[in-house]
Amino acid sequence: MRILAIETSCDETGVAVVDDGRRIVSNVVASQLAHQDTGGIVPEVAAREHLRALDGLVQQALGDAGVSLRDADAVAATVGPGLVGCLLVGANYGRGLALAAGLPFVGVNHLEGHVYANWLYEGTDAPPEPEIPAVVLIVSGAHSDLVLMEGHRRFRPLGRTIDDAAGEAFDKVARLLGLGFPGGPEIERVAKHGDPNAFPLPRATLADRYDFSFSGLKTAVLRLVRGLQEKGEVPVADVAASFQKAITDALAEKTARAAAEHAVDTVMLGGGVAANIALREEIQKRIGHTLRVPPPRLCTDNGAMIGAAAFYVLRHRGTEIPMTVRSDLKLA
Ligand code: KG4
Ligand code: ZN
Repeated sequence: MRILAIETSCDETGVAVVDDGRRIVSNVVASQLAHQDTGGIVPEVAAREHLRALDGLVQQALGDAGVSLRDADAVAATVGPGLVGCLLVGANYGRGLALAAGLPFVGVNHLEGHVYANWLYEGTDAPPEPEIPAVVLIVSGAHSDLVLMEGHRRFRPLGRTIDDAAGEAFDKVARLLGLGFPGGPEIERVAKHGDPNAFPLPRATLADRYDFSFSGLKTAVLRLVRGLQEKGEVPVADVAASFQKAITDALAEKTARAAAEHAVDTVMLGGGVAANIALREEIQKRIGHTLRVPPPRLCTDNGAMIGAAAFYVLRHRGTEIPMTVRSDLKLA
């Protein structure tokens, strides 16, 4: 089963060809540079950029794969959650392509895409599939969800953020420190030269729930930076490292506790923030289980993960995928 998959939910335009939900035949991603000047995503600009990029990227993905649209068995695209104008561009484009080629169209939940990125591989040797049940932490620019994956496409929510998403916190702190956008990779880069214990920062515990809260941490960093500015120069690397340590501690603690309570053997990560090496290491340190994480470029938004998830949509029943785009689509 060969799927041509399209991802346009946010500011990355991704197109990929994926075989049997696992093997990446081709995978091209165009990151929108238009947002770097504004330091954040302008939805209308993002939608227009997707429209501009799609034709070329589809040709490139098919060309890299050495196939034509006729060799595909289905066309898939993200239908939610995400920015509605962006979702509309990709989903309508995909639907049109499917119609023109006489292929079925498969709508995909972006969050399922982040989970199924763990099933992908490149080359000829398939690594073993992740084991289910598993505890999955999805951390992106818009989501911080801790879920129990009980079976294919069957997710039980355990916790989520009650305010900012983890990626959003990285982006906001980066902006505060005068670093570029997106902030996650920038924080990670400068934190390497800093002391994670330089400044004590809060880790919201929210009693024994599995929910997260990052707004207190964000405010604490804001106060810290203001105070440091008054005294003189801000030690950016130390602030970045202390922030990164605080947020990874909070994420890792709950993920490890959920894995222990639900007695699963596997923990999986997904979403842009899962690209963070400090987060991976902190979680691995705290669990005695296998940790599955996609390589960094499959953690951030891409078409291949949509192609993987689409295969399982065709195979397994789960949360219903709506016919039209839905900006607030849930995992379960
Ligand atoms: O999954 P994603 O590409 O898009 C959404 O679905 O939101 O995630 C983007 C988020 C951004 O907030 C970005 O700053 C963050 O992931 N991110 C990182 C890293 N790479 C991307 N956060 C921390 N460390 C990273 N290395
Ligand atoms: Zn995403």
